[in-house]
Amino acid sequence: MASYYITTPIYYINDVPHIGHAYTTIAADIMARYKRLCGYDVFFLTGTDEHGQKVEKAAQSQNITPKELADRTVSRFTELWKVLNITNTGFIRTTEERHRKVVQYLFEKIYQKGDIYLGEYEDWYCIPCESYFTELQLKDGACPDCLRKPERLKEESYFFRLSGYGDKLISIMEEKKDFVMPEIRYNEVFSFLKGGLKDLSISRTSFRWGIPVPINERHIVYVWFDALTNYISGIGFLEDMETFNRYWPCDAHLIGKDILRFHAVYWPSFLLSAGIEPPKRVFAHGWWTIEGQKMSKSLGNVIDPYEIVKTYGVDEFRFFLFREVPFGMDGDFSKGAIVNRINGDLANDLGNLTSRSVTMIEKFLKGRLERPEKNGGMDDYVVESIYRLTETYRSEMEIFGYYKALNAVFEIISILNKYIDSEAPWRLFKEGDGRIKTVFYNIWNGIRITAMLLYPFMPEKSQKIWEAIGIDKYIGSSDFDHEKGFYFTEDIKLLHKIKPIFPRIEG
Ligand code: MSP
Repeated sequence: MASYYITTPIYYINDVPHIGHAYTTIAADIMARYKRLCGYDVFFLTGTDEHGQKVEKAAQSQNITPKELADRTVSRFTELWKVLNITNTGFIRTTEERHRKVVQYLFEKIYQKGDIYLGEYEDWYCIPCESYFTELQLKDGACPDCLRKPERLKEESYFFRLSGYGDKLISIMEEKKDFVMPEIRYNEVFSFLKGGLKDLSISRTSFRWGIPVPINERHIVYVWFDALTNYISGIGFLEDMETFNRYWPCDAHLIGKDILRFHAVYWPSFLLSAGIEPPKRVFAHGWWTIEGQKMSKSLGNVIDPYEIVKTYGVDEFRFFLFREVPFGMDGDFSKGAIVNRINGDLANDLGNLTSRSVTMIEKFLKGRLERPEKNGGMDDYVVESIYRLTETYRSEMEIFGYYKALNAVFEIISILNKYIDSEAPWRLFKEGDGRIKTVFYNIWNGIRITAMLLYPFMPEKSQKIWEAIGIDKYIGSSDFDHEKGFYFTEDIKLLHKIKPIFPRIEG
């Protein structure tokens, strides 16, 4: 069985999970579920980034050890992933022993290669962002990311010869146009590389909470070197090379656009230096603003995913995030927008299609499917369109084109709704026209396929749709190639009127 390996960033444990964390993780879950439908053996890794000065400081202020702080807060993430129906197969914490070993191994390996040397580093350092910035990068003297005041810091530090990897990365990118996606991010990385790379400081002596540098324990491994290594320690590098070799190189590192350089420049360079293949692809998505504003603690507009799920439902939330905004671009989250999507796409279009079809199959065909006998009207057009749009869906899903994939699904839904209106099964029934069998055969198949296409986005609701149309199987273990076709079956439960799957909600 072919394998597929997808990752999310590992999240800082000093923050409470918000819509941004949920977004990346749901996006990865969608791909993992889709790939399983296509028959892949999927490894889906997520986890937590637990080292660094911020965690050390937060623990100090609460009079506990950093590890205690991490142990208390990691469940905020693991619990949320349960609520959001995330099907990760691995979870890695950077405080785990298996991770420490790999980080130290990687450091030493790169050192032996001659790519690490001792030097002195001085620059502007933003503590919350754990990043150094040059004078030029600062925005009016403040950190360009969080706008807080950085400190001038100077320390002895080990450096990685990043400058030696620019040309290699450029040739990888010239050869693999999908190494960084979407295109706008590819261009960003490419021009950064063309500008030339400076060596990178990869150790600190200014705090203790982290992994000691194996060749000099006074130094702590730079948090990003530490964090990025999760992608190999989390699939068994060193301790289980069979698993590692099955999944590496990673098919897709899914990240937000803010951490692109770390993933598309630093990480592949570390790996190349250590003689490990770089990942196949890095996909960077955009950022969410909230009701038109940047999300921030000080504005008090941080979106708590638990709240959203309680108000609108898990699948509704998962769906909204990818239906509303092309994946890769920035988007705005607003209550009005999510309500519109639920009432429009889900209650009106998909919900009505399902419930009126079930009601009619019950009424006109006694709740059974019948073999189609003849074609006419829109029949051929409907079948061909569904085949065509399913192919569009598939090619879009392969390149994280979630938005266009969902557009294709909603085109199917709209074609099916129009089909019902134009063929008017109630009239065929009255006239005793046998074509009614064909029409319901097509509708039933269309709904079945639609639900499967929506499954990665809405795993529970799509299962409910299958139940409504009489299919008594777990939708998540279906085989895409089999289910995408039209087929006749007597193996369905009698269809009868159902409760609305997508109730309308008040705005
Ligand atoms: N710990 C690092 C990642 C290390 S990976 C080796 C980190 N963690 S984080 O918790 O700050 O953020 C993780 C992800 O959340 C990033 O991909 C980031 O883009 C995403 N988001 C944070 N705020 C966001 C929005 N407002 N909108 C969308 N995504 C956002 O960075």
